[in-house]
Amino acid sequence: MARRIAFLFLISLTFHVVALPQGLPAAARPVVVQGAMRSETEKLASSLDNVSIERVGGWTFWRGTLDGYPVIVSRTLKGIANAAAATAIAIEHYNPIAIINQGTAGGHEPGLRLYDIVLGNSAVSLGAFKTPYRPAGASSNALDWVPLNLMASDGSAGNDSSARKVARFPGDTVLLAVARRVARLHTRGRVVDGVIGSSDMWIDEIDLIERFHTKYGTSVEDMETASAAQIAGLFHVAFLGIRVVSDNTTNGEPYEPKTGEACEEYVYQVVKAYVATLAR
Ligand code: 5AD
Repeated sequence: MARRIAFLFLISLTFHVVALPQGLPAAARPVVVQGAMRSETEKLASSLDNVSIERVGGWTFWRGTLDGYPVIVSRTLKGIANAAAATAIAIEHYNPIAIINQGTAGGHEPGLRLYDIVLGNSAVSLGAFKTPYRPAGASSNALDWVPLNLMASDGSAGNDSSARKVARFPGDTVLLAVARRVARLHTRGRVVDGVIGSSDMWIDEIDLIERFHTKYGTSVEDMETASAAQIAGLFHVAFLGIRVVSDNTTNGEPYEPKTGEACEEYVYQVVKAYVATLAR
């Protein structure tokens, strides 16, 4: 009996010690904020409190708190494969309540100016296509390519007619609402809803951009959002892509890396507002 009481006492002590500030439960699930490059993550990582750095393979995670709530900044590295792996690792290691993928992107419509921010109503894959048959010497034309949804079915994607539509991943409605609510805090440009297209390509062909824009509604292109959204979806984790226009070949605006920092500053406000709703 005495041993049992001692055991219960120990358990209650443990729970007391690991309780987080502001009366949050010990098991509060963190918010993960992703960015591909140093110029898209450094500011966010340094704005967290109580930071510790963890490395898994080639990926780095900054674990800290924002207003007492656990937040993890993840550098995914660039591209579809890296972002997918970083997302799976983050979910397996940290069991996040939500994931925000943010950073820079190229504009797909001339009206989007540098520093404008696109909230991903949805993200689409611009990296999976079936080409029509062309004989040797007939060259290539990406405008003829048909999209492939690799999530559509278990069958051979090339022969499955139900797979011939673009893979689209919706943004979480709660995260979207919070991001819209703090839009006025971004003063360097507008904040608009839109569609983020992702592939391992940097596309500067105006005709191809125009096709993606009219067919799938893309506002901007990047190399990570749709991939992270796909993995978050498979794990049923709330997800939102937030991308700042860093370059826009459709209106001739050249790449400006400093836009990444402006995006981080806005995303900080989004996360702050979001964790305030969780802590209530
Ligand atoms: N096309 C593709 N990716 C872009 N990025 C910024 N602008 C573009 C663009 N026009 C982002 C990608 C990637 C890195 C090259 O910057 O997401 O991480």
